[in-house]
Amino acid sequence: MARYTVTTPERRYDAIIERGILQQIQQWIPKNSGKLFILTTQDVWTLHGARLNGVIATPLFFPGGESRKRLAEVEALAGQMADAGADRSSVVIGFGGGIVTDIAGFLAASFMRGLPVIQAPTTLLAQVDAAVGGKTGVNLTSGKNLFGAFHQPLVVLIDPDVIATLPPREYRAGLYEIIKCGVIRDAALFDCMDSQTAGILNHDPALIDGIVSAAVRIKCEVVTADEREGDLRRILNFGHTIGHALEAETGYSVFLHGEAVAFGMHAATELAVRTGWLERALGDRIRRVISAYGEIPSTSGVSAESLVARTRGDKKTVQGKVHYVLPVAIGEVKVVSGIDDNVVLESVRAVLK
Ligand code: GLY
Repeated sequence: MARYTVTTPERRYDAIIERGILQQIQQWIPKNSGKLFILTTQDVWTLHGARLNGVIATPLFFPGGESRKRLAEVEALAGQMADAGADRSSVVIGFGGGIVTDIAGFLAASFMRGLPVIQAPTTLLAQVDAAVGGKTGVNLTSGKNLFGAFHQPLVVLIDPDVIATLPPREYRAGLYEIIKCGVIRDAALFDCMDSQTAGILNHDPALIDGIVSAAVRIKCEVVTADEREGDLRRILNFGHTIGHALEAETGYSVFLHGEAVAFGMHAATELAVRTGWLERALGDRIRRVISAYGEIPSTSGVSAESLVARTRGDKKTVQGKVHYVLPVAIGEVKVVSGIDDNVVLESVRAVLK
């Protein structure tokens, strides 16, 4: 069992990593709560619903998919809650992958101006990233996660047992976010992702528990230092500037978020090398480790120009300046802006397939 604490000005809560923990969820539901609502998908509910031992709640089913992560879906879910008698004493439980936990958080943040949310992530990506740290929201046509709120949960319950049933593609998508954590802040984690690839891809439980715990620890440390992404939290966006552009450019329907981040990390690493921030040998090593975790869908038909144009609408663009998180060593990144568009274009071109 591992437990890490997030402390923000408004809340202090734990992210707990423990096999079987979902069966104890009842102990984190506040005693005076009214109706409980579990936001989930039909698949997750069928596979894992029984793990939420004895919780009496109204399930709200989200149809799934990044392209459905839209305001209209949140309005429909809020309507279902109102019809089912939700009030200010209600609690929302996000039980699913990152899209579900993002929407559950936003629904909770907005319903009657704010209900508590408990996050119970069931994909690796949600466990190590999306469900921890209080970022919630939906996509706009113009960009990913452009509409939302910070809303920290009461607790994040991370049960590594549930990821055993993940399709391999979903599992790998989460592993890319763990590689990201190694590159930005933890050389030992990166070394483990490099040296233990076969065991990790084969779901070795001890390795999984170790890498999930390391990634969650990093996330909790970073969010505690900078909840609102004024400074340090920006490092979590390694691979996300170009990754978000790729997701938007392909209509949120070709790449899983983690796969787009893998592509974005290839591009940002190449950019770091071409701008002189990173030695070529280290860049090659980072790219080799990302590639060792499998192929992502082809980017054929996507142009470097269109991706770079999209970065200008990204949340990370401030006063027209696109910020890139660039590795400068294994375990250390810098946030760099003002890079010549042509260098960015060449770097993206070099990694398009
Ligand atoms: N996924 C990036 C963050 O939570 O800041």
